[in-house]
Amino acid sequence: MNRVLDAREFARRRRQLMRMAGRDAIIIVPSAEERVRNNDAHYPFRQDSDFHYLTGFAEPDAVLALVPGRSQGEVILFCRERDRAREQWDGHRAGQEGAVADFGMDDAFPIDDIDDILPGLIEGRSRVYYHFGRETRFDLILMGWVNRVRSNIKQGAKPPHEFVALSHLLHDLRLYKSRSELRLMRKSAQIAAEAHVRAMRTTRPGMNENEVEAELLHTFRKHNAVPSYEPIVGAGTNACVLHYRANNATMQDGDLLLIDAGAEYACYASDITRTFPVNGRFTPEQRELYDIVLAAQLAAIEEVRPGKSFEAYHLAAVRVLTQGLIRLGLLKGSLRSNLESHTYRKFYMHKTGHWLGLDVHDVGDYRVDGEFRELEPGMVVTVEPGLYISPDLKGVPARYRGIGIRIEDDVIVTSGDPEVISAGVPKDADEIEALMAAH
Ligand code: GLY
Ligand code: MN
Ligand code: MN
Repeated sequence: MNRVLDAREFARRRRQLMRMAGRDAIIIVPSAEERVRNNDAHYPFRQDSDFHYLTGFAEPDAVLALVPGRSQGEVILFCRERDRAREQWDGHRAGQEGAVADFGMDDAFPIDDIDDILPGLIEGRSRVYYHFGRETRFDLILMGWVNRVRSNIKQGAKPPHEFVALSHLLHDLRLYKSRSELRLMRKSAQIAAEAHVRAMRTTRPGMNENEVEAELLHTFRKHNAVPSYEPIVGAGTNACVLHYRANNATMQDGDLLLIDAGAEYACYASDITRTFPVNGRFTPEQRELYDIVLAAQLAAIEEVRPGKSFEAYHLAAVRVLTQGLIRLGLLKGSLRSNLESHTYRKFYMHKTGHWLGLDVHDVGDYRVDGEFRELEPGMVVTVEPGLYISPDLKGVPARYRGIGIRIEDDVIVTSGDPEVISAGVPKDADEIEALMAAH
């Protein structure tokens, strides 16, 4: 089997989660569902991240039940049965035997039998951990099972009386990446970095943004990865549109090109942004703004250290951006007064980063008891300051208008220095020019 993570790692995660939930709990996690696009065509299937985290099982129509302390088996998977005819059309299924033999389940049952079996597993458990309110269809099914137990109270059945959001426990686990997860995240970032390098080498005035997007996809697929989100490939003023996705404009001589594209490898996301001149040379104005964003990004990365608040690296970026904008005359007044009144927001309207993992905007609380949490080793963040000078922004010298720049890297919090795992693509302006000139 082509498995990138050891079955023991998934078993370890399940044990941890069960220990946190307690012996009177049951944890229920459904797989993602296949979504029909039209007729017989489906959207690409992507396993639910939580389900994947706990099973490594890549099929739809499955439900994981964790029943801590249950003597006949704690880890139970409901999944599709083997079916020769269906497998001829859609490919291999693990079946119940495979679920036990290859995925380390204690027991497995056909998904079609779940209504008969799951109420019995819920009975006698006082707490149900589940993602309430995420999938309405499954919410109703689950409440149906609970009500089945309730209807047997007179016969002595003990229904659960606490319903707890699974995310508190599970998403805190997911926030701390293991060694093997970090290995996959490095690989995902390396693939994305290689794609960005290929895009830089290819870009020429007169090409279309979609041609550059094709170069990114080429590299992703060559390495058995897919995009972790829809790539943003925006030249000229398109770079000022934060979620630009049309990717179909012709790139002009003199434009900057902003590419925000990440790979998903073995379900782990990377998320990289680079901004570079379409013709290979920054104009003086582009370079002035670019160097401010780069300085802000480098200052921010320095703050990605254990014990620092999650907010610290955003504040570091904002400080350097604001200083730079004052220096160029785009902001007036003292640094202090500008920082106090958040004047940078006209040019920089997003936060400096987010957790990164199985999801590109990964799970995990940013605050604990109302305060930004401290960074700890094993967490992974993006660091992505930018400046976006809208083409119609008033009070800004015309030569800066229409320039959009973001620089984004993926960074592991370690016990020592921050580890930038997306460093395989240059971000220093001279290095970018050298790379683009070298062919
Ligand atoms: N690509 C999404 C983000 O940068 O957050
Ligand atoms: Mn991004
Ligand atoms: Mn990002």
